[in-house]
Amino acid sequence: MTYSRITGTGSYLPEKLLTNKDLEKIVDTTDTWIRERTGIKERHIAADTETTSDLAFHASRKAIEMAGISSSEIDMVILATTTADKIFPGTACLLQKQLDVHGCPAFDVQAVCTGFVYALSIADKFIRAGETRRVLVVGSETLSRILDWNDRSTCVLFGDGAGAVVLEADSEPGIMSTHLHADGSYEDLLHVPHGISIGYEQLKAGEAYVYMEGNAVFKMAVNKLGQLVDEALTANGISKSDIDWLVPHQANSRIIEATARKLRMSMERVIVTVAEHGNTSAASIPLALDIAVRDGRIKRGETLMLEAFGSGFTWGSVLLKF
Ligand code: COA
Repeated sequence: MTYSRITGTGSYLPEKLLTNKDLEKIVDTTDTWIRERTGIKERHIAADTETTSDLAFHASRKAIEMAGISSSEIDMVILATTTADKIFPGTACLLQKQLDVHGCPAFDVQAVCTGFVYALSIADKFIRAGETRRVLVVGSETLSRILDWNDRSTCVLFGDGAGAVVLEADSEPGIMSTHLHADGSYEDLLHVPHGISIGYEQLKAGEAYVYMEGNAVFKMAVNKLGQLVDEALTANGISKSDIDWLVPHQANSRIIEATARKLRMSMERVIVTVAEHGNTSAASIPLALDIAVRDGRIKRGETLMLEAFGSGFTWGSVLLKF
């Protein structure tokens, strides 16, 4: 039986820092309001010349280095993003070019904040089916480009960044289960209302921005994130106490705390890094994972539950032995 196992993690945050104090000069907000409602202290913003594939490249290099392999050994590249470099080709192909990898499949996954969980699940299936052995799975975003910097209810929440893992075939798990969900009927609660086939004029005019009904999204996120844990535990016949670390999508510390409370999980077992980078959408889970691996909190052999919720709505989980 072939399983898939994470052998390397990496992450990257752009150099430019935007603190809550900086935002006080841009919109009518305060450091206290942002910290109390979201837990966010600062976020990183990509330089004008820096692209989603550039951020992905830096994170990928670190993951490949930790895995102890060379880029040429990668046999599939899956990149989750909402903020692609170009309309086409896919950002995964642009990353592949930067990594000097040639010939293997490379494609993007668009499931917004759940994108990395979707991408990891796809990679796991390819490895289990015996079609690939080493997949580079990346979440990378330049969300700052689709924020309305006059809208205080959204611009304070998001940031830019990237996270990556190398997933390799192994005789031991590895990934124990993945569960993916979506319900497109909630489209209007969290979206950028413009794109190629709807509102192309606004897109060209640089007016395609994130729109969100924060309260409704908050309630739905807590509900679905709680259900995800129960679903994974039941599928694997294990209990909450078997989970060493919950690594949730880093949208908002209040959503994370409410989910942990609902599950009666101590916050000591939850990885929270949102204060330092804000909501980086598809990049947030691999970013949080890499930070906690490199600072020594997450260790080999521990059981991790990754879970995400985002626009679509989409939601999903990955249970794994690290
Ligand atoms: N600074 C100061 N005040 C702000 C503000 C800001 N940045 N943004 C909104 N406000 C104001 C509102 O205008 C409102 O003022 P009013 O009462 O005078 O109308 C007040 O704060 C309360 O707004 P509300 O939207 O009810 O606040 P909230 O407690 O729901 O917090 C969010 C707003 C966005 C932080 C919260 O709804 C949330 O976290 N939602 C989920 C967001 C998320 O994580 N989405 C991504 C999921 S992938």
